Amino acid sequence: MIGSNEVQAEDIILPSDKRIIAISAIGSNMGQEFTEYLLDNEYQVIGFGGKNSEQFTNKIKARYPQDLLDFFYCDYFNTESIAGAIKSARLKYPKLDGFIHLVGGSLFNKPVSKLKTEEFTKVLNLNLTSAYTFSKYIFDWLQNSDGGHMVFFGSTTGIKPSGYKLPYAVAKAGVHMLVKALAKEGADFNILVNGIVPGYVMTARHIEELELKAEKNSSSIQSEIDLVKQKNPLRGELNTEDMFPVLALLLTTNVITGQNVTVDLGQTDL
Ligand SMILES: NC(=O)c1ccc[n+]([C@@H]2O[C@H](COP(=O)([O-])OP(=O)(O)OC[C@H]3O[C@@H](n4cnc5c(N)ncnc54)[C@H](OP(=O)(O)O)[C@@H]3O)[C@@H](O)[C@H]2O)c1
Repeated sequence: MIGSNEVQAEDIILPSDKRIIAISAIGSNMGQEFTEYLLDNEYQVIGFGGKNSEQFTNKIKARYPQDLLDFFYCDYFNTESIAGAIKSARLKYPKLDGFIHLVGGSLFNKPVSKLKTEEFTKVLNLNLTSAYTFSKYIFDWLQNSDGGHMVFFGSTTGIKPSGYKLPYAVAKAGVHMLVKALAKEGADFNILVNGIVPGYVMTARHIEELELKAEKNSSSIQSEIDLVKQKNPLRGELNTEDMFPVLALLLTTNVITGQNVTVDLGQTDL
């Protein structure tokens, strides 16, 4: 049943030898691939999210041993809903090792003169307020677990604005600073906080967009992909799996904190 996070005493999961990672928006394009990567690499995953994330979790659950993957429903725009989902998860999993925040999206693509204030606020709430709210409650969970790792997803749009995505640029720049401010506080509790800042990732959503572009331009999907590649110095394509090693590093490092790692084939800086 969607929205049911009820936990009974017999549900409590005792500490295992696997590291337990919580993921917000587990059903996002990147979240799906990160989850399978972690489950295939000796991690246990607790997903948080909306309807799409719940459907994804249910779909893949049967492929993994029982208790390796769990899910708690929440509404990203509602503080109590996020707090409640994390509270339910903590009752079942007293110890947490890490957290990945993936909630986000640009939502509106229009010039500032056409942008409504409520649209600006919605993008800020989806990207930045959700990151703050998750971080507040996850921080406490990690503090009570003797420390851990937090990884937030920013965007190169938060470093160098891309056309007509003003609210998203502002929100992601905020996420980048949230990483630094949290890392400073986390240092006293062995909580290491970092960000991954991707450029254009070839997720299923972006492939669909390029297919539409190809149709509109009477070109081919390959020529649209080639145009994307020409925008970065390495002339390459960025896929979710290219970020696996960065994610693994930031979930295990004892020496890196407060960093936003740009993963964009050199596009923003070079
Ligand atoms: N793809 C890229 O090229 C790219 C580049 C730079 C940064 N990023 C960032 O990396 C993260 C993951 O990217 P992605 O492409 O995998 O994301 P995605 O597939 O677009 O999914 C993001 C998730 O955020 C939630 N969400 C998005 N719009 C929403 C709305 N209007 N209302 C409620 N929830 C909404 C959904 O969660 P539920 O599924 O739980 O409903 C969705 O699955 C995001 O923070 C994104 O901003 C992506």
